[in-house]
Amino acid sequence: MTIAVKMTVNGRPVAAEIEPRTLLTQFLREPLRLTGTQVGCDTSQCGACMVHLDGRAVKACTVLAAQANGAKVLTIEGVGAANGELDPMQAAFKQHHGLQCGFCTPGMIMSALALVKDNPDPSEETIREGLSGNICRCTGYHNIVKAVHAGAAALKGRGKST
Ligand code: FES
Ligand code: FES
Repeated sequence: MTIAVKMTVNGRPVAAEIEPRTLLTQFLREPLRLTGTQVGCDTSQCGACMVHLDGRAVKACTVLAAQANGAKVLTIEGVGAANGELDPMQAAFKQHHGLQCGFCTPGMIMSALALVKDNPDPSEETIREGLSGNICRCTGYHNIVKAVHAGAAALKGRGKST
């Protein structure tokens, strides 16, 4: 048995017939080939799969694609400009070495963008708490916090919070 789903992903309408048990992560990664949404665990702990669902950061491995029917989904592929220019938060991660292997980075950036939307000038404590659902096994988090500070400042300077 399959079901029909429709949603808007990174501003593009998509429609598909899927098995009801399909997770949003699978839907994004397989038929849509949006592989920036990572799968880093099977316990909903790592945050590598973070996307925005109707403007809220959610772990896509905890959502059935059918539950996103009719929703607006933003993945890391939709964060930068269409011409390839990085979003200020992405640029801040690059500039402040907020990544090593990069596996956690898309999820970190999606969480960071949701965080600064609510807190345009976050404290270190707020950043660490806001990213507590994202695990990084490489960086020790210090440069990630620096990057989020810088990204928040850059977004505030532009009057933009994604
Ligand atoms: Fe680890 Fe979703 S894949 S929380
Ligand atoms: Fe490697 Fe975070 S940069 S897991």
